Amino acid sequence: MENNRLNTALNTLLANYQIYYQNLRGFHWNVTGINFFGLHEKFEELYLEAAETIDEIAERILAVGGQPLHTFEDYLETASITSAPNVIKGEKTVEMTLENSKVLLKQLNELLKLASDENNEGTVAMVSELISVTEKRIWMLAAFLR
Ligand SMILES: [Fe+2]
Repeated sequence: MENNRLNTALNTLLANYQIYYQNLRGFHWNVTGINFFGLHEKFEELYLEAAETIDEIAERILAVGGQPLHTFEDYLETASITSAPNVIKGEKTVEMTLENSKVLLKQLNELLKLASDENNEGTVAMVSELISVTEKRIWMLAAFLR
């Protein structure tokens, strides 16, 4: 059942979601400005959603015979999303969230192709759902910034 290409791609996605998650925590805590109350709450909603997604991806990796990465060291080494330290201005926090989401969407689309090439329906189903959730989030974040 082990599938190295799929496991590797899923672990990269997991690592990216972990950095995205930790960025959201930082924005939730440190955001400032006129939109503080709305953004503080929105980031909490987004990081709770990300935490569930992270668990889903990790357990998907186990289901396809892999081993999910779980250390900060591995995540930093594997992820293409980078940490967003000291981002506190409301607009900037939304811009960073939008950028991170676009990276996730691109990776999800690549993963969808890989999983469907390999007829891995369980992964296809999970990734399809994540794509639509991510597209919706990208629309909303972009609307905030217009
Ligand atoms: Fe909080």
